[in-house]
Amino acid sequence: MIKVEKLSKKYPDKVALDDISVTFPAEETTAIVGPSGSGKSTLLHSLNLLERPTGGQLTIDGLSLDLNHSLAKSEVLEVRKQFGMVFQEKALFTHLTVLKNLTEGPIKVKKVSKEEALNRAHRLLAQFKMEELADRYPYQLSGGQQQRVAILRALAMEPKYLLLDEPTSALDPELEAQVLRVLKELAQKDTSMIIVTHNMAFAEQVADKIVFIDNGAVGYDGPTDGFFHSTDSRIKQFLGAMSF
Ligand SMILES: Nc1ncnc2c1ncn2[C@@H]1O[C@H](COP(=O)(O)OP(=O)(O)OP(=O)(O)O)[C@@H](O)[C@H]1O
Ligand SMILES: [Mg+2]
Repeated sequence: MIKVEKLSKKYPDKVALDDISVTFPAEETTAIVGPSGSGKSTLLHSLNLLERPTGGQLTIDGLSLDLNHSLAKSEVLEVRKQFGMVFQEKALFTHLTVLKNLTEGPIKVKKVSKEEALNRAHRLLAQFKMEELADRYPYQLSGGQQQRVAILRALAMEPKYLLLDEPTSALDPELEAQVLRVLKELAQKDTSMIIVTHNMAFAEQVADKIVFIDNGAVGYDGPTDGFFHSTDSRIKQFLGAMSF
């Protein structure tokens, strides 16, 4: 489980996160939702210290950090190792084939043997029926295929937690559905995932838990059903604005 307590990100002219406390259970999918500019990405990127919070406590399973003090490089590295990350825009190595994209991290960063890295990559490609893409370069893939490879690349590192920041927002609806199907399958396999999404239908169907961030504060933190059936006027207003 990941626990953040009194987490803050304060810019001179803007409080992006105002001392928030939330938990992200292991082996569950948590969707972070909320209006644009509310602090969702800031929260997600604070978990792997891609963005440096200005204060608070971060606990990732047995690892506890006090964010009110500056952190040692080794602490930051230790935190980073727990996470895989998938960004909004595909970020594959363009000069490497799909297979090499999947083996590069495990071999270079995790010191996995070449043989084991290849086995892992082929297993992932087979699992998601993408084997025929193994020898292609990123430019030979559709946007949806690229994003699915980006997800597999994060998984190849066998992270404890997978972080995704609007992984489908650059895709058209059909390609989005392909990517969401992969994420749904991962959720059903009890992958520990934290995903920022604007897709409420997906969040309702797939997430175990919802964290609603509203203007740098936590507007809801609990089971998915409770969020979508909430009688809270702010939540109802948000959900109303998200549908048409
Ligand atoms: N360098 C900065 N200086 C001042 N304010 C910033 C800075 N970076 C981000 N912010 C502000 O922090 C707030 C939170 O930003 P964040 O990117 O977390 O929002 P978000 O919920 O992910 O939005 P979106 O849905 O549009 O991606 C925003 O209001 C943003 O303008
Ligand atoms: Mg964002």
